[in-house]
Amino acid sequence: MNNKDDGKGYPRVISTPPGRNAKEWVERDNKVISQSYTRSYPLVVERGEGASIIDVDGNRYLDFTSGIAVTSTGHCHPKVVDTIKKQAEKLIHMSGTDFYYPCEVRLAEKLVSITPGEKQKKVFFTNSGAESTEAAMKLARYHTKRPHFIAFYGGFHGRTMGALSVTASKPVHRRGFSPLIPEVTHIPYAYCYRCPFEHDPEGCDIECLAFLKEKVFRHKIPPEEVAAIFVEPIQGEGGYVIPPKPFMSRLQSIAKEFGILLIADEIQSGMGRTGRMFASEHFDLLPDIITIAKGIASGMPLGAMVANSDIMDWESGSHANTFGGNPIACEAALATIEILEEGLIQNADKVGRYILSELEKMKKVHPLIGDVRGMGLMIGVELVRDRKTKEMATTERGEIIQAAFKKGLLILGCGYNVIRFMPPLIITEDDADKALSIFDEVLTEVEQNRFKG
Ligand SMILES: Cc1ncc(COP(=O)(O)O)c(C=O)c1O
Repeated sequence: MNNKDDGKGYPRVISTPPGRNAKEWVERDNKVISQSYTRSYPLVVERGEGASIIDVDGNRYLDFTSGIAVTSTGHCHPKVVDTIKKQAEKLIHMSGTDFYYPCEVRLAEKLVSITPGEKQKKVFFTNSGAESTEAAMKLARYHTKRPHFIAFYGGFHGRTMGALSVTASKPVHRRGFSPLIPEVTHIPYAYCYRCPFEHDPEGCDIECLAFLKEKVFRHKIPPEEVAAIFVEPIQGEGGYVIPPKPFMSRLQSIAKEFGILLIADEIQSGMGRTGRMFASEHFDLLPDIITIAKGIASGMPLGAMVANSDIMDWESGSHANTFGGNPIACEAALATIEILEEGLIQNADKVGRYILSELEKMKKVHPLIGDVRGMGLMIGVELVRDRKTKEMATTERGEIIQAAFKKGLLILGCGYNVIRFMPPLIITEDDADKALSIFDEVLTEVEQNRFKG
């Protein structure tokens, strides 16, 4: 494990954040950096070590964000750092679009062997999640020669024009950017935790996906004109929503029935985060195309679109990029996968189960907690003002995130009223206890304010 400690322990807040230095940097940042970013609190980072982040005022935080589910092996894992240094001395860039280099091939060989499904597969390398989505959209259209896409409400696939078109998470992502790419239809995801009908989860998939067959295909789109269905096996940005297993199998069988490609967006849920290399494995899902990014290279910018070889039939020149499959990023990814396979995925499963069981206990004493759900270290806590009406505790969610930050715990939200725990996969139960104890404290404070009198 890479939880290096400087002997002083973490979290350790020596000056209530934002400290003097942080304030100065935030002021400078505000003048020159786009305000479109979604900064939740004024954390100004100096360096990262394992599961901790040190800010410019010397405060040491426990990082339960992993830089938005990216630093799976912890910050600056020595093996990843060493690999990056060695590769930087050898070759930084040559472009896989026009030339060949071994590490790109080695990584592609590895990815086709670890992604679900026994079919022969091929890889297209990208620089981000959105770019992986774009590549999948283009390949799906090219291969099927069909124009339409189906995606889900709550789904998030990126912010470039194509990716934004299949995204339907929050209006702020789309406001001011229309027209987007036409021929995208969104359908309801399996929001069982909010379902007003309280269906038996085994049957609920029928209700949700009936919309696709009985409304969309009957009244709007001929299914033979649909190129692909985009689905996150576990919705991330939408609120860490886990569908029941039959939802996924039924989706897969509908796709098969109409010759529609199934694209699993594993950009957030992949690379070991859920206690399996890919979340699709929990659902026995065999996607035709898988999109990857975030956790693949411990923080180096890299993404990938992995497709069955018979689908990746586009011609030379039809899709490419300058930086995709950068040698340093590829080597970092190979090192990351090696570390993941050395026990981190099992650790994510084990510590994730522990956190879930502790959160279930906390739910009994904290009325704000409406639901606790997760797989591995992709865990969501839904906050409600009233468990019966499920009125969303969005303001309280913000207060909790701010208060946790001031006490040295970094967390982020998703959906409108969910807090997500997505720590590096290296964390120990001891780290989990520290985070849960801060979470418990701030929940108590916010509840005292909310429910007093
Ligand atoms: C499931 C999912 N898909 C796609 C993306 C977009 O990735 P990126 O921000 O690297 O473009 C994200 C980012 O949060 C994501 O969570």
